Amino acid sequence: MTNRAESEPPFLYPGYKSTVLRAPTQAPIALPKARSTQTGPQYGAAHATALDADLTKNGITAKHIAGGQPLGERIIVTGQVRDDRARPVAGALIELWQANAAGRYVHSSDAHDAPLDPNFFGAGKAVTDAHGHYCFLTIKPGAYPWGNHHNGWRPAHIHYSLFGASIASRLITQLYFPGDPLLQHDPIFHAVPAHARDRLVAQFSLDATAPGFALGYVFDIVLSGGQATPLASSYG
Ligand SMILES: [Fe+2]
Repeated sequence: MTNRAESEPPFLYPGYKSTVLRAPTQAPIALPKARSTQTGPQYGAAHATALDADLTKNGITAKHIAGGQPLGERIIVTGQVRDDRARPVAGALIELWQANAAGRYVHSSDAHDAPLDPNFFGAGKAVTDAHGHYCFLTIKPGAYPWGNHHNGWRPAHIHYSLFGASIASRLITQLYFPGDPLLQHDPIFHAVPAHARDRLVAQFSLDATAPGFALGYVFDIVLSGGQATPLASSYG
C-alpha cells in the first residue's frame, strides 16, 4: 500500500444509508494547490488551553450534581500525529466530539431517549506539541441507536477533526475502542477497507493509564501515505 486512497472508504457505501443520497455522482475535480493552501493559517498552542483538553471539566454546569463531575468512566486518550514519513506533526489542531456515557449528544437533533449530563458537554480541542503528541481526559462514550437499519447501534466512538500544517490539510475520522462487539455490525466501520480498519481502533495501554484514576488508550494518527488513518464520517 503506497497511498492513502487505498485505505479510504468509498463515497458511496450502500450499507451506510445516507451515503446513497449524498455521495457525488460525478468524479471529483482536482483543484490546483495554491501557495496559500500550504502556508496559511497555522495553529499554535495558544489555540487550545489545558481546560479545552479536559472534557471532564470543560462542560461543568451543575456543581451540585455528582460534585460537578460528569458521570461515567474517565479515560485518557493520547497519541502522536505523524506524516507519511513517520515524522511527528507539531502544531496540529485536534478537535473531538462525542456522546456522553449514556450515548447522548448535546445536540438539538439527537432524539435518543437517554439522559443528558449537565456536567458533560462532549467536545474538546488540543494542539500537538513539538513531538506531535496530544492528550485528552474524557468520559468513555456510550453506544447509541441510529436509524440506518433495523436495530442499528453505533459502537462507542469519538469523532476527530485534525488540521495539519495548514487549514487546507484536514482529516475527519473516528476513534473506536478495542473489543467492542458492535464493530462487526457497523457499516461506517466496515466502509473502510478491511486492511485499514484497525487503524481506527485505539489500543488500551497500561503505560497511558493513570493509576487509581483513569484507563488509558493510545490513538496515533497518520495524516498521509500508505499507513494513513482512514477518513470516517463526521455524522453517525
Ligand atoms: Fe457519533
